[in-house]
Amino acid sequence: MQRTLVIIKPDGVQRALVGKILARFEERGLKIVAMKLAQVDRDLAEKHYAVHQGKFFYEGLVNYISASPVVVMVLEGHEAIGVVRAMVGATRPWEAAAGTIRGDYALMGLRNLIHASDSPETAANEIALWFTTDQIHPYAREMDRWVNE
Ligand code: CMP
Repeated sequence: MQRTLVIIKPDGVQRALVGKILARFEERGLKIVAMKLAQVDRDLAEKHYAVHQGKFFYEGLVNYISASPVVVMVLEGHEAIGVVRAMVGATRPWEAAAGTIRGDYALMGLRNLIHASDSPETAANEIALWFTTDQIHPYAREMDRWVNE
């Protein structure tokens, strides 16, 4: 089982798409093991996007993620990192395939609705940045054997 960090960005919350996006992950069989609504301050935004510091789009990225509350979660499941990235779609929303979250709900520029960890190393770092270990709650679901076995 892998864990991955997903952020429904300010545009996803403002556009009232949280329920629809969550439903996709749940229906796929992924398990929510942590989740919260958070107003991101500049310090957290800078840490989250540290790898992009110095790039021309960095300021826009930090301003965007801290503009309004986000919903952040840890999803768990078989190959969760790659599965979630595939469900999210291409970074540029206008290039994202139909059937992906961005391809179905996003269109332009930075307004790409959602962030998902891109590797096991990134996932571990991002999960530790956004959640303490006591905020992550592993649990068994009755349906797990029908999804995972
Ligand atoms: P996200 O998945 O949150 O992680 C990094 C973000 O950087 C990405 O979404 C995009 O919003 C943004 N990004 C990556 N490349 C570019 C780019 N060339 N121009 C603007 N934004 C970018």
